[in-house]
Amino acid sequence: MTVTIVGSQLGDEGKGGIVDVYGDIADVVVRYQGGDNAGHTVVHEGDEYKLSLVPSGAVRGKIGVLGNGCVVNPRTLFEEIDTLRDRGLDPDVRVAERAHAILPYHRVIDTLEEDVKSDDDLAAGTTGRGIGPTYEDKAGRRGVRIGDLLDPETLRSRLEYVVPQKRALLEEVYDISIEDHEDIDADAFDIEALFEQYRDFGDRLANEGMTVNCGEFLADRLDSGEELMFEGAQGTSIDIDHGVYPYVTSSNPTAGGATVGTGLGPTVIGDGEVVGIVKAYLSRVGTGPLPTELGSVDGQTPDDGGRPSEADLAEYIRDEGGEYGTVTGRPRRVGWLDIPMLRHAARANGFTGLAINHIDVLAGLDEVKVGHSYTLDGEEVFTMPPTTEKWGDCEANLRSFEGWEDVDWNAVAEEGYEAIPENAREYLDYIAEELDTPVYAVGVGPGREQTIVVEDLT
Ligand code: IMP
Repeated sequence: MTVTIVGSQLGDEGKGGIVDVYGDIADVVVRYQGGDNAGHTVVHEGDEYKLSLVPSGAVRGKIGVLGNGCVVNPRTLFEEIDTLRDRGLDPDVRVAERAHAILPYHRVIDTLEEDVKSDDDLAAGTTGRGIGPTYEDKAGRRGVRIGDLLDPETLRSRLEYVVPQKRALLEEVYDISIEDHEDIDADAFDIEALFEQYRDFGDRLANEGMTVNCGEFLADRLDSGEELMFEGAQGTSIDIDHGVYPYVTSSNPTAGGATVGTGLGPTVIGDGEVVGIVKAYLSRVGTGPLPTELGSVDGQTPDDGGRPSEADLAEYIRDEGGEYGTVTGRPRRVGWLDIPMLRHAARANGFTGLAINHIDVLAGLDEVKVGHSYTLDGEEVFTMPPTTEKWGDCEANLRSFEGWEDVDWNAVAEEGYEAIPENAREYLDYIAEELDTPVYAVGVGPGREQTIVVEDLT
């Protein structure tokens, strides 16, 4: 059996916690897209672990796999593994040989391009981890794959082809003198330095037996009766195809990505559960429109966006929810739940169940609103339009719910679903009904024991 966990909004829905809860039934936890742009916080036996690349299941003694759809920065990978080891864990992480490697020049180019785009309000507000430039090289057939790191001759020939192009890009397009630039490490554009660094990474991957032929490895595990969990990073609305292009990441967090990004067929993923993770309100790191946004965040909210008069409410939710980027520390934009966004996600992913997080964060408000539909060009619409510009033209039609009181959420978690305050249950019922998908779990706090499991998936 497989369980695929997908973010249904803009990332940061609390997927790590749900992966952690449902990960119990899994033997292997697999990431199928993205790289060290993801920020997972996992609380295990009272200790908090912040991971950006290693699958969160690895904290709990599962095999963690980075599938072929991932872009892997080996430096981050080893740093995270070493940190976990220093803290007494023994993570078992495997990396697909077909996954692409992030090289130092990808990070440099990511930052440079964002700077240029910001002049035209087109910057996506990337995490600066080189994600987009690495996927560009993958699609442009000039990437370096993890398997290449194990074969020095191939590694060298790949670098000899691609590095001069990157140098030319900096020198001739950006008009930068690499050797003289104070913020750029010249080694990032030096074939020999890169070769040595990445050959060493390859040696370590080989010595620790970490690389796999991903699809085959996973199929063998399934055949032997093991359970697999696919851990999507980011979220549906920042999917390169289904998200708010161009303010998106460069991969497919949607459930279809789990097949392409692992080497298992769509029937394998479709035979299992696909759980959509929903945060009970909205948060966003980065730029672009956000029709239900409350308040505004400088440098991220478009000039005509947000609801400046609701700045206090925005700040309250941001602070209660700890809405600051796990990777970057940036304050996140916050807004009311956007139901058209969720309808879009439910269709694009084919959710079999929902996990709704953070209902505790909204506790204590007199009134909780949702964007039930949009008005676009004078018409009421119920799902997201295909262009981001049109989405920016959408006005959210808000629906109001009576708020729920702040309670002892630990006690609620212990007692189960029926102990959730009635108004909050009405809110959950509404979401399930609108998406025609049952609620499998409800998060009432960050810890694993603060997730109420309605459907245990065993
Ligand atoms: P990139 O993935 O670093 O290229 O960033 C592209 C867009 O995706 C930016 O708007 C980022 O803020 C957003 N993004 C990337 N990873 C995450 C995440 O894990 N959570 C939320 N947003 C993310």
